[in-house]
Amino acid sequence: MHAPKLLVRDLRQVVSPAGRAAPLRGSGLGQVELVENGYVLCDGPAIEAVGRMRDLAPLEGDVVELDGSGLCAIPGLVDCHTHPAFGGDRVEEFSLRAAGASYEELHAAGGGILATVRATRAAGEDGLREAVERHRGWMRRAGTTTFEGKSGYGLDRGTELASLRAIRDAGGAPTFLGAHSVPPEHADADAYLDFVLAEVLPEAAAIAEAADVFLERGAFDAAQARRYLEACRDHGLVLRLHGDQFTEAGAIPLAIELGARSVDHLEATGADGITALAASDVTGVLLPASALFLGRPMPPARALVDAGAAVALATDFNPGSAFCASLPLVTSLAATQLRLSPAEALAACTVNAAHVLARADRIGRLAPGYAADVVLLDAPDWRYLAYHLGGDVVAAVVEAGSVVVGRPAY
Ligand code: NIG
Ligand code: FE
Repeated sequence: MHAPKLLVRDLRQVVSPAGRAAPLRGSGLGQVELVENGYVLCDGPAIEAVGRMRDLAPLEGDVVELDGSGLCAIPGLVDCHTHPAFGGDRVEEFSLRAAGASYEELHAAGGGILATVRATRAAGEDGLREAVERHRGWMRRAGTTTFEGKSGYGLDRGTELASLRAIRDAGGAPTFLGAHSVPPEHADADAYLDFVLAEVLPEAAAIAEAADVFLERGAFDAAQARRYLEACRDHGLVLRLHGDQFTEAGAIPLAIELGARSVDHLEATGADGITALAASDVTGVLLPASALFLGRPMPPARALVDAGAAVALATDFNPGSAFCASLPLVTSLAATQLRLSPAEALAACTVNAAHVLARADRIGRLAPGYAADVVLLDAPDWRYLAYHLGGDVVAAVVEAGSVVVGRPAY
């Protein structure tokens, strides 16, 4: 028996990044297609049609209808950079930072990432699965229908692999962040890489889609990042880097040389990095919630877009530098701190984020043939997504044609 279709009707606005290309760059980033008084018709997991109510022909067969009066529809949001597989929390460290301690000082003193490594190793596989599901629920309630999740808080064989399985089984796109920090049982970064490349990568590569490295002073330098990424590439993984978060240590040139999919953070990127990234196929993933949470400078988003770079936006959800699972909040930061328009911010966390995850042909737009992933905003104008700072704008979330989050009426 054919499942009923889902018709979301009488929507005030239906909004989608324009065209079919990905990634969107330059002036193309801010172009949206907007239908007033519209509908979205879903057939199972895919969108069948989007249009104006007055053009909607009578529908045959079994159709479930959702009343979209007073609501606006946007594509399901895509969070292309999160760290959801961790045990414990860092609320104590958060309080110390509020009193003046710096993130890098806490890291150097054995806190920071390594504190979460201890708690994650202690959580066990079931505990990790519960944590990823809980975090995935927070993202979903904020409108995220597709998420990437990184390992990187295990840094031993069992916990790294358990993290990747937990992310995959929660429906995420797993990324092997085997080079996040050097755990204390290894003498130095090179000795740790000897271990992780020989003992963890072969099995991690069978679960993960991508590999990531933290290229930063106190973590891995450019030569070590190159060694890690080249080995991961040889195992068929897409390459990504955490780069230019605190210092410019060569992440952008390395990303370009290795044909990486993205370089993420960029708070410390200067003029040469902007020019180089703009001339490349590497997407810059901007994480303003992380800059805000750490009280750090914002990345040069406006200059990157104006120079023609492909940019995406993500939460960086993690317990230390960005305890924030909300992409709507990230779009507010984009509009208020990064000088991106709401339309640019929308494209950056839909189609361009989908491009980072190699899914832009399937998700990130409201158009026939794309996944039936839809966020319904309780707002008279879709730009409330960014405008309503910290607001309760998400009325309902449709994922693969099913309502997975909804206020009572839904
Ligand atoms: O993207 N910078 C490195 N990794 C994470 C933070 C990890 C942590 O503090 O636990 C990030 O900000
Ligand atoms: Fe991160």
